[in-house]
Amino acid sequence: MCGIVGYVGPRECTDVLMSALSKLEYRGYDSAGIAVFDNGEIKVAKSKGRLKDLEEKMENTYKPSGHAGIGHTRWATHGEPSDINSHPHSGKRVTIVHNGIIENYKKLKDFLVSQGREFQSETDTEVVAQLLDYYYDGNPLDTIIKVMSEVRGSFALGIVFSDFRDVVYAVRRESPLIVGVGENESFIASDVPAILKYTKDYYLLEHDEIARLDMDGVKFYDKHKKEIIKEIKTADWDMDAAEKGGYEHFMLKEIYEQPTAIKTTISPRITDGLPNLEECGITPEKLREFNQIYVVACGTAMHAGLVGKYVIEKLARVPVTVDIASEFRYREPLVSDRDLVIVISQSGETADSLAAMRLAKELGAQTLAIVNAKGSSIAREADMLIYTHAGPEIAVASTKAYMVQIAVMYLLAFELALAVDAIDETECRRLTGLLQKTPDYIEEILKNKEDTQYIASSLITADSLLYIGRGLDYALSMEGSLKLKEISYIHSESYAAGELKHGTISLISDGMPVIAVATQKALFEKTVSNIKEVKARGAKVIMVCRDDYTPEKDVADYKFGLPDIDDIIMPMAAVVPLQLIAYYTSVLKGNDVDKPRNLAKSVTVE
Ligand code: AGP
Repeated sequence: MCGIVGYVGPRECTDVLMSALSKLEYRGYDSAGIAVFDNGEIKVAKSKGRLKDLEEKMENTYKPSGHAGIGHTRWATHGEPSDINSHPHSGKRVTIVHNGIIENYKKLKDFLVSQGREFQSETDTEVVAQLLDYYYDGNPLDTIIKVMSEVRGSFALGIVFSDFRDVVYAVRRESPLIVGVGENESFIASDVPAILKYTKDYYLLEHDEIARLDMDGVKFYDKHKKEIIKEIKTADWDMDAAEKGGYEHFMLKEIYEQPTAIKTTISPRITDGLPNLEECGITPEKLREFNQIYVVACGTAMHAGLVGKYVIEKLARVPVTVDIASEFRYREPLVSDRDLVIVISQSGETADSLAAMRLAKELGAQTLAIVNAKGSSIAREADMLIYTHAGPEIAVASTKAYMVQIAVMYLLAFELALAVDAIDETECRRLTGLLQKTPDYIEEILKNKEDTQYIASSLITADSLLYIGRGLDYALSMEGSLKLKEISYIHSESYAAGELKHGTISLISDGMPVIAVATQKALFEKTVSNIKEVKARGAKVIMVCRDDYTPEKDVADYKFGLPDIDDIIMPMAAVVPLQLIAYYTSVLKGNDVDKPRNLAKSVTVE
């Protein structure tokens, strides 16, 4: 996934583009570039590396200056990160920036080469630039429409034509793109944080819609060249929400925002002490229609689905299958029109999850999206929608979004269990009350960061470690393992504690760290037995368990103590130390916590 921006207005364009791109670096940051109308000419500056490398390059060579232009920060898909592969890419008279994947780029490139066109880069984006240039007949709109009809795949494009000074065009298909409007100025951006410094007012560009930005304002066209009037939206975020707020990293800020995020997400969905999801189109009658539930998501969002599975099956006795979206899509799932498919996504733009939801709809299932990013593709295409209200999650490693995803899964599980008479109102009210108390428990846990810092210091020299647990603790160990891997770059693996003895226990070597999540009372003794098995083989065991348990020396070397709350709601508390352990391990390793290598915040490509 990449970030694209554009600007037309009275300000110094280069400054605006660089500032806007800095708010999109979480979308990709292996190279960056800008193209600016500079005294009537399009001047390009681009570089491998971060924005600061581009800034330095412009200071040392030439810094374009003007009042209109486009910019890009990249997460490489076609062609390694390099100066030549960084965006913008140009034809003779057209320069573009692109977020997405052109699926038929090879066929188009072969055609253009046969027409004598020469290419500089390995990217699919340059193919689009050259194709626009090939068809360009002096009318940008006609040219864009023609190219759109030939290109297959996903794209959000910022486009400038050399003979249309101070005019920026934008067009999208699948990849998100907004058009911001301020006082005598306008913007394009892949996401809202890029423009918040200048305006909160924006338009959502729909599939195959084109925008033209010039000094007189913005016009929109459909793919038949018909001008269209669009509804303006106002971002409900403010600059602070998209800034670090005094924390060293966005990730730490977002971990500490979790109590507020939970309250903001669940409070509007609780009436008289009971879950109430009617505003999302979900009623007890609707919930009773379903035979089976599928949860489809990627990464951390999928782990949130696993917690939901355990809770729904335990309380409502309705079968739940959790699928990795990229697997669901290709295993010919046995989804029927009597099933509910829940798609969980922070960004609402994850290509695999979006495609999985579309497949579920083709198979006749009803779809429910649990999404954080307002107005995102998954949010807009689902039959039913529950927004989480975590605010912008900037750090690549998801924390508060995960927390509110499981909070919503709890509400859904409680309402479903009540709807099918698996629990009565008293029990439903008790469980909902437990959920409402979790922000307080988390506030308490967040006061004890020292223990997680100590644990982190014991992990940084490890080559590999295990996270183990049973039941809900196993679901949590998956999330803890992913958090550690993606930001500390230390290999880890989550494993069902009871399964270790069937092979994987051979990995245990002297001093190998094992983080054992043991919060489920009903499984506690069995988990302790499994912990003793690894301890006896030399493991260095860190237990995440209730504070009132003191492990013997033959069980654990260290403990992170949790408050004594009901087993079923424990994941909301137990995940917090796992997040902090990963965070501090990454900090101690000197990694870029918010923008870990090889990753991007939302993977809008397959
Ligand atoms: C989470 O820490 C990861 N960054 C990643 O696994 C993420 O959860 C996954 O890509 C899904 O993203 P989404 O929630 O935006 O769909």
